Amino acid sequence: MWNTDNPDPHVENPTFKALYKSIPFFIALRNDCVYGIFFDNHFKTNFDMGYSSTDYYSFGAADGELDYFFFYGDTIADIISQYTALTGRCPLPQLWTLGYHQSRWGYSSQQEVLDLAQNFIDNDLPCDVIHMDIDYMDNYKVFTVDKNRFPDLTALSDVLHQKGIRLVTIIDPGTKVENGYHMYEEGIKNNYFAQTPDGEVYENVVWPGDSVFPDYTSSIVRNWWGSQTKFLLDQGISGIWNDMNEPASFRGPLPDDVVFPGDDMPRQHKEVHNVFGHLMAKATYEGIKKNSGKRPFVITRACYSGTQKYSTAWTGDNQSIWAHLKLSIPQLLNLGMSGMPFVGTDIGGFGSNTNPELLSRWIQASCFAPLFRNHCAKFSRCQEPWQFDKQTLDIYRTYVRLRYRFIPYLYDLFYEESRTGMPIIRPLVMHYQSDPEVRECNDEYLVGDRILVAPVTDQGVHVKAVYLPQGTWIDYWTKERISGGKYILRDAPIDVCPIYIKGDSIIPAWPQLDHIPDGGSEELILEYYPASADSSKYVHYQDNGADFAYEAGEYNLYRFRADKDGELSVSMEHEGYEHHYETLRVEVY
Ligand code: GLC
Repeated sequence: MWNTDNPDPHVENPTFKALYKSIPFFIALRNDCVYGIFFDNHFKTNFDMGYSSTDYYSFGAADGELDYFFFYGDTIADIISQYTALTGRCPLPQLWTLGYHQSRWGYSSQQEVLDLAQNFIDNDLPCDVIHMDIDYMDNYKVFTVDKNRFPDLTALSDVLHQKGIRLVTIIDPGTKVENGYHMYEEGIKNNYFAQTPDGEVYENVVWPGDSVFPDYTSSIVRNWWGSQTKFLLDQGISGIWNDMNEPASFRGPLPDDVVFPGDDMPRQHKEVHNVFGHLMAKATYEGIKKNSGKRPFVITRACYSGTQKYSTAWTGDNQSIWAHLKLSIPQLLNLGMSGMPFVGTDIGGFGSNTNPELLSRWIQASCFAPLFRNHCAKFSRCQEPWQFDKQTLDIYRTYVRLRYRFIPYLYDLFYEESRTGMPIIRPLVMHYQSDPEVRECNDEYLVGDRILVAPVTDQGVHVKAVYLPQGTWIDYWTKERISGGKYILRDAPIDVCPIYIKGDSIIPAWPQLDHIPDGGSEELILEYYPASADSSKYVHYQDNGADFAYEAGEYNLYRFRADKDGELSVSMEHEGYEHHYETLRVEVY
C-alpha cells in the first residue's frame, strides 16, 4: 500500500500493485468466524494474502511500529462498526450532495458552464452540482481564478444557485513556484512547504509547472490552507474537490527523505506519504466548516484509514472500458466495508472514449452509488447525457430520476451510517453471511438491506443471471414476486437494470423533483411492499440537511408502521426540527 497515481488501466495485472488509497484493514470470514485486522502503519505496507502459501497470509511494513488492532464479532457488520468506532465515521452530509453531479476536465469558460446548466434544464434532467476542474484557475495556481475566462465567479454561482445548481471547484496540493503569487510567498516566508534533507524547499512538477508541497502534518499549515477556502466560499462555491494528493508528481516520485517539518516533529516523506491526502482533506474539511458553518463537502482521491471523517472519495482515473464498469462494484463495496461509505466512480469512465451502451449501463450500475458523478478527461469524447442519441438520453434520465426518487432512503442510510458505520451500498454477504452463494458475489449489491441491484456490466448482454437470497423479492419494474434462495434469469434490454425490493419493506421516496430542495421535499412517499408479515416498520430521519443544528437535537425521527390493509400509523421518536412534511402518501405494491 503506497498511494499511487498510475494512469495505466486498473485491471488485473501483475505489475499493478497499488492504487490511490491505502486503507490497511481487512475482514476475514471463515465458516461462522468473523474478524477484522487494522494494521495502523502509514509507511509502505505489504499484504500477502495467500500468495507465498495457501496456508497463511502475512502483512508487514517498510518501517514504523507493528501496531495492529484485532476486532472480533459475530457479523461483518460488527467488525465494521468496531473499526469505524476506532477510525471514525462519515458525518451526515448536506442533502444536495446526494444529487447528480456533472463534471469534465475542460469546462473552460463561464459561458460554457452556464450552457451546461441550461442543457440539463432543456433536456429535463435533474442536476444539483457542476464541478469545475483545473481550467478555472489562473495558470493552475490554487486559490486563484482566471479572470479572462471566469470574469465573475460570484455571479456565475448566483445564477446557477437560482437554477438549483451548485458549484464545486478542484484544488490540488502542488503550489506554483512564482514570485508575487500569494500562496507561494506566504508559504515560503513561513516555512510551510516540504524540504530537502538539506533544508531547501523541495520542488517537483505538477499542473502549474514547478511546484512545492504544503506540509499538512503541521497544524499551522493545515489552518493556513483551510483558511484559504474562504476565497472560494465567498464566491459561492459549495464544496472542494482535492486531487493529486497521493501526492502525484510529474518529475519522478518525491524521494523518501523529503522532510515535512511538522509542528515540532519532522517526519520523512516515507512516513507521511500515505497520510498526505488524508491530512489535506482534514485541512479542507476544517477550513470549510469554520468558514461556512455548513457540513463540509470535500472529495479526495488519496485516503488513509479514517479519511471518512473529513471527505468523500472517488476511485480516481478509471477508463471508459467495460472492465472498469465491472470493477466499480467491488471497488465501491470494498471502500464501504473499509469505513469509506461516501464514494463513487467517474460515471461513463474518465480516460478513453465512452459509447452509448457503456454510458447507459454505467448510469444504471451507479444509480445508487453514494457519490453520483459523471466525469471525464479533457481529450476524451464528451459524455454528458445528451451527447448521444435519444435512447441514451432517455435511459439516463430514467435512472437519474430513480436516484432522486430514493434520496430520502439514501439520506436515512447516511443517518444510520453516521451512528453505526454501516455502508450505504453493501455486498450481499453482509446481510446473508451464512449463504455460501453470495460470498464472492461481485456483480450485485444491496442498498441498505432492502433494495437489491443487479446491473449488467458486459457489452452486448441483454439478460442477467441474478442471485436472490432467501425471502420474497419484488421486481421493481414489473412488481412480480419471486421467492429467493436461487438464481433467476432476468431480461435486461439496454433500458433495464434489474432491481428488486425485499418483501415487507417500506422505502421512503420523493415525488419527482429536478433539484434537491433546501430542507428536503414537502411530500414524503412511503413505498410499501407487503409480503408475508401483517405489518412493517420503518424509522425515518429528517433535518435541515445543511448545518450542524442536528447535533443540538434539531431533527425529527418518525416511526412508521404500515398494515397490509394500507393503514399507516406515525409516531415521533424524536421531534426537534420544526419543519414537518405537508403530505405523507403511502403507495402499496
Ligand atoms: C487528475 C484527476 C482527474 C482530473 C485531472 C485534471 O487526473 O484524477 O479527475 O480531471 O487530474 O485535473
